[in-house]
Amino acid sequence: MGVLDGKVAIITGGAGGIGRGIARAYAREGARVGLLDIDEALLAEAARDVPGAVPLPCDICDRKQVLRVVDAYAGESGGLDILVNNAAYFFYAPLVDMPEDEVGRMLDVGLKGALWSLQAATPHLIARGGGAIINLSSVAVSVSISRAGVYSAIKGALDALTRQQAVELGGHGIRVNALAPGPVVTPGASSVISEEGWAARRRRTPLNRLATRADVAEAAVFLASESSATVAGITLKVDGAMTVLGY
Ligand SMILES: NC(=O)c1ccc[n+]([C@@H]2O[C@H](COP(=O)([O-])OP(=O)(O)OC[C@H]3O[C@@H](n4cnc5c(N)ncnc54)[C@H](O)[C@@H]3O)[C@@H](O)[C@H]2O)c1
Repeated sequence: MGVLDGKVAIITGGAGGIGRGIARAYAREGARVGLLDIDEALLAEAARDVPGAVPLPCDICDRKQVLRVVDAYAGESGGLDILVNNAAYFFYAPLVDMPEDEVGRMLDVGLKGALWSLQAATPHLIARGGGAIINLSSVAVSVSISRAGVYSAIKGALDALTRQQAVELGGHGIRVNALAPGPVVTPGASSVISEEGWAARRRRTPLNRLATRADVAEAAVFLASESSATVAGITLKVDGAMTVLGY
């Protein structure tokens, strides 16, 4: 018996590092998992990697496409219970040097994409009488991380959206929460963090180790399951107390 038996989930950016980790944990707990991602090669690999996972090729920046893909998946799965808003595009630079197109891309994927997914998923969650939405935030909201100004601003906005969603959707039995991992080694994060950057992050983590994809996935299982039945509107940090010490 898994804690998500009979549940249907969609994970955006589900082919990547943290998303795929969450997908594995959800599948282990009995959920049917749809992996929505723009990277078709990575999706094919992820679908082989996660038992029973359904690849959902989609550009989250395209609202109509997101609505179509989510509707079709919920239709063929008999409904939808869980949405994990995890897709992100990473570009780090000092604020004065941030190129306009990179800012646009980060906003389109990380913030607007999360809103389009919410709009696509919510009617299906309401039809089920409730569900869970989990938005991937970051410790970058709480501490200043070098060159991550725009990234942290987007994650701060996502936290604000999380709180607002929790209020707007709570009456439908939908619990909305955010997860804020500390640094987790993934392809996306490694594209903007050097080896020395990872070592520095490790040194600044009181628990003496960085969270893994599996650590984040267990927190995502908690937020999706009945174990968190009255948890709503929070941002749960999975960071080994890094933000308490201060990065
Ligand atoms: N890795 C970390 O250190 C860390 C820390 C805190 C928060 N996070 C957050 O966790 C989430 C996952 O990050 P990750 O480190 O696993 O990154 P990742 O790059 O491994 O995964 C991101 C996924 O999003 C997909 N994606 C990008 N643009 C897309 C689009 N337009 N449409 C659909 N899918 C798209 C990518 O193809 C990729 O599979 C992100 O929201 C990130 O901000 C990561």
